Amino acid sequence: MKVAIITGGAKGIGKAIAQKLASLSINIALWDVIDEGEESAKEIATTHNVTSTFYKVDVSKYNNVMDTVKKLLDDFKKIDIIINNAGITRDGLLLRMKPEEWQSVLDVNLTGCFNCTKAVLKSMTSQRWGRIVNISSVVGITGNFGQSNYAASKAGIIGFTKCIAKEVAKRNVTANVIAPGFIETDMTSSLPDEIKEAYQKQIPIQRMGKPTDIANAVSFLISEDASYITGQVINVDGGLVM
Ligand SMILES: NC(=O)c1ccc[n+]([C@@H]2O[C@H](COP(=O)([O-])OP(=O)(O)OC[C@H]3O[C@@H](n4cnc5c(N)ncnc54)[C@H](O)[C@@H]3O)[C@@H](O)[C@H]2O)c1
Repeated sequence: MKVAIITGGAKGIGKAIAQKLASLSINIALWDVIDEGEESAKEIATTHNVTSTFYKVDVSKYNNVMDTVKKLLDDFKKIDIIINNAGITRDGLLLRMKPEEWQSVLDVNLTGCFNCTKAVLKSMTSQRWGRIVNISSVVGITGNFGQSNYAASKAGIIGFTKCIAKEVAKRNVTANVIAPGFIETDMTSSLPDEIKEAYQKQIPIQRMGKPTDIANAVSFLISEDASYITGQVINVDGGLVM
Protein backbone atom coordinates (compact mmCIF):
# COMPACT_ATOMS: atom_id res chain seq x y z
CA MET A 1 0.00 0.00 0.00
CA LYS A 2 1.19 3.50 -0.80
CA VAL A 3 1.76 6.07 1.94
CA ALA A 4 0.71 9.72 1.59
CA ILE A 5 1.47 12.75 3.76
CA ILE A 6 -1.19 15.45 3.67
CA THR A 7 -0.15 18.68 5.39
CA GLY A 8 -2.91 20.82 6.89
CA GLY A 9 -5.03 17.67 6.74
CA ALA A 10 -7.14 18.18 9.87
CA LYS A 11 -9.93 20.01 8.06
CA GLY A 12 -11.04 21.70 4.86
CA ILE A 13 -9.37 20.82 1.58
CA GLY A 14 -6.62 18.76 3.27
CA LYS A 15 -9.12 16.53 5.04
CA ALA A 16 -11.07 15.99 1.78
CA ILE A 17 -7.81 15.02 0.03
CA ALA A 18 -6.96 12.57 2.83
CA GLN A 19 -10.43 11.00 2.60
CA LYS A 20 -10.16 10.64 -1.18
CA LEU A 21 -6.71 9.03 -1.06
CA ALA A 22 -7.81 6.72 1.76
CA SER A 23 -10.76 5.65 -0.43
CA LEU A 24 -8.12 4.53 -2.97
CA SER A 25 -6.53 2.31 -0.27
CA ILE A 26 -3.61 4.64 0.41
CA ASN A 27 -2.30 4.84 3.99
CA ILE A 28 -2.51 8.34 5.41
CA ALA A 29 -0.13 10.45 7.50
CA LEU A 30 -2.15 13.50 8.49
CA TRP A 31 -0.03 16.52 9.46
CA ASP A 32 -1.41 19.59 11.20
CA VAL A 33 -0.84 22.05 14.01
CA ILE A 34 -4.37 21.65 15.42
CA ASP A 35 -5.50 18.78 17.67
CA GLU A 36 -8.60 18.25 15.47
CA GLY A 37 -6.23 16.19 13.29
CA GLU A 38 -6.35 13.32 15.80
CA GLU A 39 -10.12 12.91 15.33
CA SER A 40 -9.91 13.36 11.54
CA ALA A 41 -7.23 10.66 11.24
CA LYS A 42 -9.33 8.22 13.32
CA GLU A 43 -12.44 8.95 11.25
CA ILE A 44 -10.50 8.27 8.01
CA ALA A 45 -9.09 4.99 9.36
CA THR A 46 -12.50 3.64 10.36
CA THR A 47 -14.32 4.81 7.21
CA HIS A 48 -11.78 3.49 4.73
CA ASN A 49 -10.04 0.65 6.53
CA VAL A 50 -6.53 2.06 6.04
CA THR A 51 -3.81 3.06 8.48
CA SER A 52 -4.29 6.75 9.18
CA THR A 53 -2.04 8.46 11.73
CA PHE A 54 -2.01 12.04 13.00
CA TYR A 55 1.31 13.87 13.47
CA LYS A 56 1.23 17.23 15.21
CA VAL A 57 3.74 19.28 13.26
CA ASP A 58 4.28 22.88 12.26
CA VAL A 59 5.39 22.82 8.61
CA SER A 60 7.14 26.17 8.96
CA LYS A 61 9.65 24.68 11.44
CA TYR A 62 12.46 22.85 9.65
CA ASN A 63 13.61 20.69 12.60
CA ASN A 64 10.03 19.81 13.54
CA VAL A 65 9.43 18.59 9.96
CA MET A 66 12.70 16.61 9.80
CA ASP A 67 11.99 14.90 13.16
CA THR A 68 8.45 14.04 12.06
CA VAL A 69 9.67 12.45 8.84
CA LYS A 70 12.08 10.26 10.85
CA LYS A 71 9.22 9.14 13.10
CA LEU A 72 6.97 8.55 10.11
CA LEU A 73 9.59 6.40 8.38
CA ASP A 74 9.77 4.28 11.56
CA ASP A 75 5.99 3.87 11.45
CA PHE A 76 5.36 3.43 7.70
CA LYS A 77 8.84 2.51 6.31
CA LYS A 78 8.36 4.66 3.17
CA ILE A 79 6.79 7.81 1.74
CA ASP A 80 5.26 7.73 -1.74
CA ILE A 81 3.15 10.86 -1.94
CA ILE A 82 3.18 14.32 -0.37
CA ILE A 83 0.40 16.87 -0.68
CA ASN A 84 1.67 20.25 0.52
CA ASN A 85 -1.66 21.79 1.47
CA ALA A 86 -1.10 23.62 4.79
CA GLY A 87 -1.75 27.31 4.31
CA ILE A 88 -2.81 30.49 6.08
CA THR A 89 -3.95 34.00 5.17
CA ARG A 90 -3.20 37.30 6.91
CA ASP A 91 -4.90 39.67 4.47
CA GLY A 92 -4.43 43.41 4.41
CA LEU A 93 -3.39 46.24 2.13
CA LEU A 94 0.37 46.54 1.73
CA LEU A 95 0.30 50.04 3.20
CA ARG A 96 -0.99 48.58 6.47
CA MET A 97 0.63 45.13 6.38
CA LYS A 98 2.92 44.42 9.32
CA PRO A 99 6.23 42.66 8.63
CA GLU A 100 5.08 39.75 10.83
CA GLU A 101 1.94 39.33 8.69
CA TRP A 102 4.13 39.12 5.60
CA GLN A 103 6.60 36.74 7.24
CA SER A 104 4.14 34.32 8.85
CA VAL A 105 2.34 33.71 5.53
CA LEU A 106 5.62 33.16 3.69
CA ASP A 107 6.85 30.90 6.51
CA VAL A 108 3.85 28.55 6.48
CA ASN A 109 2.83 28.60 2.81
CA LEU A 110 6.18 28.70 1.01
CA THR A 111 8.90 27.73 3.49
CA GLY A 112 6.55 24.99 4.74
CA CYS A 113 6.40 23.61 1.20
CA PHE A 114 10.22 23.72 0.96
CA ASN A 115 10.70 22.05 4.37
CA CYS A 116 8.27 19.19 3.72
CA THR A 117 9.34 18.52 0.13
CA LYS A 118 13.03 18.51 1.07
CA ALA A 119 12.34 16.15 3.97
CA VAL A 120 10.65 13.49 1.82
CA LEU A 121 12.59 13.80 -1.43
CA LYS A 122 15.31 11.28 -0.62
CA SER A 123 12.73 8.60 0.20
CA MET A 124 11.01 9.13 -3.14
CA THR A 125 14.08 9.40 -5.35
CA SER A 126 15.78 6.36 -3.83
CA GLN A 127 12.72 4.17 -4.47
CA ARG A 128 12.35 5.76 -7.92
CA TRP A 129 8.67 6.58 -7.50
CA GLY A 130 7.01 9.59 -6.00
CA ARG A 131 4.26 12.14 -6.36
CA ILE A 132 4.42 15.73 -5.10
CA VAL A 133 1.31 17.88 -5.33
CA ASN A 134 1.52 21.43 -4.05
CA ILE A 135 -1.61 23.43 -3.35
CA SER A 136 -1.21 26.99 -4.60
CA SER A 137 -4.10 29.32 -5.50
CA VAL A 138 -5.36 31.16 -8.58
CA VAL A 139 -4.39 34.28 -6.62
CA GLY A 140 -0.76 33.24 -7.14
CA ILE A 141 -1.39 33.66 -10.88
CA THR A 142 -3.65 36.71 -10.98
CA GLY A 143 -2.80 38.62 -7.78
CA ASN A 144 -5.56 39.92 -5.53
CA PHE A 145 -6.43 43.07 -3.65
CA GLY A 146 -5.17 42.84 -0.04
CA GLN A 147 -3.29 39.57 -0.49
CA SER A 148 0.26 40.55 -1.46
CA ASN A 149 1.76 38.20 1.15
CA TYR A 150 -0.52 35.28 0.23
CA ALA A 151 -0.19 35.78 -3.55
CA ALA A 152 3.62 36.00 -3.27
CA SER A 153 3.70 32.74 -1.31
CA LYS A 154 1.40 30.99 -3.78
CA ALA A 155 3.32 32.27 -6.83
CA GLY A 156 6.49 31.10 -5.09
CA ILE A 157 5.04 27.60 -4.81
CA ILE A 158 4.58 27.52 -8.60
CA GLY A 159 8.22 28.47 -9.32
CA PHE A 160 9.47 26.08 -6.63
CA THR A 161 7.45 23.16 -8.03
CA LYS A 162 8.72 23.68 -11.58
CA CYS A 163 12.33 23.51 -10.33
CA ILE A 164 11.70 20.36 -8.30
CA ALA A 165 9.89 18.78 -11.25
CA LYS A 166 13.01 19.26 -13.38
CA GLU A 167 15.36 18.01 -10.66
CA VAL A 168 13.57 14.72 -9.94
CA ALA A 169 11.85 13.78 -13.21
CA LYS A 170 14.48 11.20 -14.16
CA ARG A 171 13.81 9.41 -10.86
CA ASN A 172 10.15 8.86 -11.75
CA VAL A 173 8.98 11.50 -9.30
CA THR A 174 6.46 14.04 -10.57
CA ALA A 175 5.73 17.45 -9.03
CA ASN A 176 2.64 19.44 -9.94
CA VAL A 177 0.59 22.32 -8.63
CA ILE A 178 -3.13 22.62 -8.12
CA ALA A 179 -4.42 26.18 -8.06
CA PRO A 180 -7.85 26.20 -6.42
CA GLY A 181 -10.27 29.03 -7.07
CA PHE A 182 -12.89 29.92 -4.49
CA ILE A 183 -13.55 26.86 -2.30
CA GLU A 184 -16.06 26.46 0.57
CA THR A 185 -13.92 26.02 3.72
CA ASP A 186 -13.19 27.88 6.97
CA MET A 187 -10.67 29.98 5.00
CA THR A 188 -13.46 31.56 2.94
CA SER A 189 -16.42 31.27 5.36
CA SER A 190 -15.50 34.46 7.22
CA LEU A 191 -15.63 36.61 4.07
CA PRO A 192 -18.60 39.02 3.98
CA ASP A 193 -21.60 37.77 1.95
CA GLU A 194 -21.34 40.58 -0.59
CA ILE A 195 -17.71 39.63 -1.39
CA LYS A 196 -18.72 35.97 -1.77
CA GLU A 197 -21.59 36.91 -4.09
CA ALA A 198 -19.29 39.14 -6.16
CA TYR A 199 -16.79 36.26 -6.55
CA GLN A 200 -19.53 33.80 -7.44
CA LYS A 201 -20.78 36.04 -10.27
CA GLN A 202 -17.33 35.83 -11.87
CA ILE A 203 -17.21 32.02 -11.85
CA PRO A 204 -18.41 30.62 -15.22
CA ILE A 205 -19.59 27.38 -13.54
CA GLN A 206 -21.65 29.59 -11.21
CA ARG A 207 -20.85 27.99 -7.89
CA MET A 208 -18.12 27.94 -5.29
CA GLY A 209 -15.88 24.87 -5.37
CA LYS A 210 -16.09 22.08 -2.82
CA PRO A 211 -13.05 20.54 -1.09
CA THR A 212 -13.88 17.33 -2.98
CA ASP A 213 -13.35 19.17 -6.30
CA ILE A 214 -9.72 19.66 -5.28
CA ALA A 215 -9.40 16.13 -3.89
CA ASN A 216 -10.58 14.66 -7.21
CA ALA A 217 -7.88 16.55 -9.13
CA VAL A 218 -5.25 15.37 -6.61
CA SER A 219 -6.35 11.76 -7.02
CA PHE A 220 -5.68 12.03 -10.77
CA LEU A 221 -2.24 13.64 -10.36
CA ILE A 222 -1.05 10.93 -7.97
CA SER A 223 -2.30 8.12 -10.21
CA GLU A 224 -0.34 6.10 -12.79
CA ASP A 225 -2.53 7.76 -15.45
CA ALA A 226 -0.74 11.05 -14.70
CA SER A 227 2.79 9.63 -14.88
CA TYR A 228 3.66 11.77 -17.96
CA ILE A 229 2.48 15.04 -16.35
CA THR A 230 5.00 17.05 -14.36
CA GLY A 231 5.77 20.71 -13.63
CA GLN A 232 2.20 21.73 -14.46
CA VAL A 233 -0.27 24.07 -12.82
CA ILE A 234 -3.86 22.82 -12.92
CA ASN A 235 -6.50 25.40 -12.06
CA VAL A 236 -9.53 23.92 -10.29
CA ASP A 237 -11.70 27.00 -10.17
CA GLY A 238 -14.93 26.57 -12.17
CA GLY A 239 -13.34 28.49 -15.04
CA LEU A 240 -12.57 31.63 -12.98
CA VAL A 241 -9.08 32.02 -14.49
CA MET A 242 -8.51 31.04 -18.13
N1 LIG B 1 -10.45 27.77 0.46
C1 LIG B 1 -10.10 28.37 -0.65
O1 LIG B 1 -10.89 29.05 -1.32
C2 LIG B 1 -8.69 28.21 -1.19
C3 LIG B 1 -8.40 28.76 -2.44
C4 LIG B 1 -7.13 28.63 -2.96
C5 LIG B 1 -6.16 27.95 -2.25
N2 LIG B 1 -6.46 27.41 -1.04
C6 LIG B 1 -5.37 26.72 -0.34
O2 LIG B 1 -5.78 25.42 0.01
C7 LIG B 1 -5.10 25.01 1.20
C8 LIG B 1 -6.11 24.51 2.22
O3 LIG B 1 -6.98 25.58 2.56
P1 LIG B 1 -8.39 25.42 3.29
O4 LIG B 1 -9.33 26.32 2.59
O5 LIG B 1 -8.72 23.99 3.47
O6 LIG B 1 -8.05 26.13 4.68
P2 LIG B 1 -8.30 25.67 6.20
O7 LIG B 1 -7.95 26.85 7.01
O8 LIG B 1 -9.66 25.06 6.35
O9 LIG B 1 -7.22 24.50 6.41
C9 LIG B 1 -5.84 24.75 6.46
C10 LIG B 1 -5.20 23.74 7.38
O10 LIG B 1 -3.80 24.02 7.45
C11 LIG B 1 -3.40 23.90 8.81
N3 LIG B 1 -2.18 24.66 9.08
C12 LIG B 1 -2.06 26.00 9.20
N4 LIG B 1 -0.80 26.33 9.52
C13 LIG B 1 -0.10 25.17 9.61
C14 LIG B 1 1.25 24.87 9.94
N5 LIG B 1 2.14 25.82 10.23
N6 LIG B 1 1.63 23.56 9.96
C15 LIG B 1 0.74 22.58 9.68
N7 LIG B 1 -0.57 22.81 9.37
C16 LIG B 1 -0.97 24.10 9.35
C17 LIG B 1 -4.59 24.44 9.59
O11 LIG B 1 -4.56 24.08 10.96
C18 LIG B 1 -5.76 23.84 8.82
O12 LIG B 1 -6.12 22.57 9.30
C19 LIG B 1 -4.29 26.23 1.66
O13 LIG B 1 -2.97 26.12 1.21
C20 LIG B 1 -4.97 27.38 0.96
O14 LIG B 1 -4.11 28.47 0.78
C21 LIG B 1 -7.70 27.53 -0.49
